[in-house]
Amino acid sequence: MESSSVRTAQKNLARSKKRTDTAVDLDDRNILVKDADIWNGRDFTRGSILIEEGRIKRVTRRITDLSVRTIDASGLKALPGLIDVHVHLRDMGLSYKEDFATGTAAAAAGGFTTVLDMPNTLPPTDSARRLIEKQKVAAQKTYVNVGFHAAAVSDSHDIESLAVAGAFSLKLYLPKPIAPLDIESDHAIEKMMRGAGRVETPVTVHAEDLVAGENSSHGDSFEAVAEARSPILETRAVDRLLRIQKKVRCKVHYCHLTLSSSLRKVRSSTSTTSEVTPHHLLLSKKLLSSLGWKAWMVPPLRSEETMRSLLNSTLSGLSSVIASDHAPHTIKEKDQSASSSPPGVPGLETTLPLMLTLVNRQQMDLSLLVKLLCENPARIFGLKSKAKLRRGADGDVVLVDLKRKSRVDSSKFFSKAKFSPFDGVKTQGAVHSTIVGGRVVYREGAVVAGEGSGFVLRRGFSG
Ligand code: NCD
Ligand code: ZN
Ligand code: ZN
Ligand code: ZN
Repeated sequence: MESSSVRTAQKNLARSKKRTDTAVDLDDRNILVKDADIWNGRDFTRGSILIEEGRIKRVTRRITDLSVRTIDASGLKALPGLIDVHVHLRDMGLSYKEDFATGTAAAAAGGFTTVLDMPNTLPPTDSARRLIEKQKVAAQKTYVNVGFHAAAVSDSHDIESLAVAGAFSLKLYLPKPIAPLDIESDHAIEKMMRGAGRVETPVTVHAEDLVAGENSSHGDSFEAVAEARSPILETRAVDRLLRIQKKVRCKVHYCHLTLSSSLRKVRSSTSTTSEVTPHHLLLSKKLLSSLGWKAWMVPPLRSEETMRSLLNSTLSGLSSVIASDHAPHTIKEKDQSASSSPPGVPGLETTLPLMLTLVNRQQMDLSLLVKLLCENPARIFGLKSKAKLRRGADGDVVLVDLKRKSRVDSSKFFSKAKFSPFDGVKTQGAVHSTIVGGRVVYREGAVVAGEGSGFVLRRGFSG
């Protein structure tokens, strides 16, 4: 039940597009990816992938089909399209920061064929009506597949209708509820989790427990605002939620964890999964004094030691997921005094090159990269037809040039947020092209498909 209807929703969408939009060229969801090194779930096999009407038809050593468009992938690695389960595409009232077109162009450029959008928008994604409205707007603009998280709400009927409308999770934002929910009450959270469990929808959580208020300000520098959100807040939130979750049958996914101790607790619990971001893995709070707003996000960057420990734990397989937490803001908003600067940095276009750099340095196994950026995200969020390059799977593929050297340059981002704490960092390993449902969306530096090429995904629950 979980996700058969994701596929159904896609089919229906594809069908309705065929019916209504005669301008859509059906042939352009057919493509032959020729002579790639293809990820087979364990390692690479040289061969070709034939995609027909958006789905993988065949993966074999040699395919010659002159009737279909061909992309020469010799020298490139073919990975299943990556899945970023934590992005803020904004749009609607916040489209000056990012919109579905620019955010998903950034996704395609970063090798992501599926993204799951967060609900802290204007208006927030806090009802089935608003979720459906968002799905409608996104369908017209998105370049990649996009699904939506919803805000954690208290009413069990609202939870059910969000599930029916296809919400991928209920997001519990502990620093400040996105929709009315008494986050100070364990009982209210327990009730929400129970409701989510009943409709088989996971809860995602921003685990910083500000409630007891550690918020003594030590001045208005970025170091000070970061210091005020100490690691203790994460520990407290994780401990609290694990305790509450024990009483209910509900899956909980912990977003952007920064402490290896959190990863260990989540790993040793049941029905829990963890997520880490490239910035918490690779950057430390030392950068706050030089980069200021460019390195300001929540949870904030930690000490060098904490960062190293998070990276080592992740490299040894303790995290479930790497997500970008792509959180675009305008430079004008960001470049202010620390207490007025909104936290968040863009990440869709830097995540894969940074991780491929670790692979090239032999710090990370490519199989771990695929697990964290694709297989586990698909499993956790019920995307059953994704994350494999096999007959019958969705035709979502990213072609990677593992050797290509580059340097992070935020002025070239497709995202509206043209800044990055990684600016100037040297990388090895780059996206060559990104194929979404059999259509080439991004190729060698350019977006080559039209807006609305991607599909809106709905998590399956029919009540
Ligand atoms: C996010 C945003 O800007 O929406 N900011 C951030 O620093 N991560 C919110 C969030 O993910 O907590
Ligand atoms: Zn009710
Ligand atoms: Zn968060
Ligand atoms: Zn976020």
